Amino acid sequence: MRAVDVITKKRGSLLNPKGEELTKEEIEFIINGYVEGKIPDYQISALLMAIYFNGMTFAETGVLTGTMLHSGETMDLSSIKDKAPFVDKHSTGGVGDKISLPLAPLAAACGVYVPMMSGRALGHTGGTLDKLESIDGYRVGLSPEEFVKILKNGGYAMTGQTKAIAPADRLLYALRDVTGTVESIPLITASILSKKVAEGSDCFVLDVKYGSGAFMKTAQAAEDLANCMVNTLKAMGKKSVAILTNMQTPLGRKVGNFLEIEESVEILQGKGPEDVKELTILFGAWMCLLGGKVKTVEEGKALCQKAIENGSALQKFFENVAAQGGNVEKLKADLNVRRSPYKKELFAKEDGFIYIDAYKCGIASCSLGVGRNRTDEAVCPDAGMILHRVSGDMVKKGDLIMEVFGKNEECFAAAMPLLEDSVTYSAQKDSKCSDKLVLKIIE
Ligand code: URA
Repeated sequence: MRAVDVITKKRGSLLNPKGEELTKEEIEFIINGYVEGKIPDYQISALLMAIYFNGMTFAETGVLTGTMLHSGETMDLSSIKDKAPFVDKHSTGGVGDKISLPLAPLAAACGVYVPMMSGRALGHTGGTLDKLESIDGYRVGLSPEEFVKILKNGGYAMTGQTKAIAPADRLLYALRDVTGTVESIPLITASILSKKVAEGSDCFVLDVKYGSGAFMKTAQAAEDLANCMVNTLKAMGKKSVAILTNMQTPLGRKVGNFLEIEESVEILQGKGPEDVKELTILFGAWMCLLGGKVKTVEEGKALCQKAIENGSALQKFFENVAAQGGNVEKLKADLNVRRSPYKKELFAKEDGFIYIDAYKCGIASCSLGVGRNRTDEAVCPDAGMILHRVSGDMVKKGDLIMEVFGKNEECFAAAMPLLEDSVTYSAQKDSKCSDKLVLKIIE
């Protein structure tokens, strides 16, 4: 087999501009050859561009995902297979998106086993691992043995993706980044799922976000990605559901690392903002359904509600914190008290209904130290914002809109103008206020 023949087959010709479907052998030849260093970057770049223009079928995307997945190590959960089916949740990322933090203990309290491998903050979006590490002592770099033990004992475990997971994705992503081929639905699907499936789950609840603060800017693009992910998982013999959610304005009232831990605890205490509560219960219900604990989503919602009301979900969370090295007593004492000493307040500039843009807020939070622009940058655990007013609220000039916490005094020079700019004022509510939080559910 020659790489050039696979490239021209996908590229097509004047008579056949859409190209042809690649076989399993062809995809494996290309991906394995690339990882082994036998096929050069320039040929893979050409193939990526052909895929960008001509797409892939769900079957091809499934084979690509499987090949990328098997390019590295996978989590071996066979020693606890009696706990299966394992169910995980993945979010395409957003601003103030802390749902995984209350969701994993909630699902575990309902009897679902959740092996969760998460990512770090990058650009304007936050990262679950950085949020967890803001808890004193909490370790996310678990060995596979520790991961399995904590999962078995507590019903869930949280860890990071190691370099050994899907090395093909790391190589391909770096190439996509510099060849203008990141925004390809089958390539995004294979990239996300090769890493997710490697953690050993059987079922997946996918939060596919759309809007300014999301990776996919329009509802249509998010729906296309959601369809591709669900059908690719189906082709790989996995169960999944994709839930399309709104990310035009920040989720909840707290954005940051430790600040989002606080809001997650509020949710597990039966308090907290309605939007975070709604998504946590909905995703929890679907995890219960896919995990075989209930027969309907409504039953799942009731089970989740009960696990919050009787305190078992919060108990699971504290048990996990202890199991992963975190200091539970210090965490409890820090809640609503631990704050960065660098603080500013943002007041309303005029009267009117406000709208807070998620992307602008995310970029500002990155300047504050919540996230990072380069993978080797450190984040600040206590940086972030507390929103006292949210999109759709009526304000009077001078009202407090948000408290802002920075990593140092200097960061406010960049962050405050961005935050000022993230808030718009109008005589009527912005039309985006009537957009639903959950747009569509795709099975
Ligand atoms: N996230 C990933 O992991 N991969 C992509 O291609 C896009 C988003």
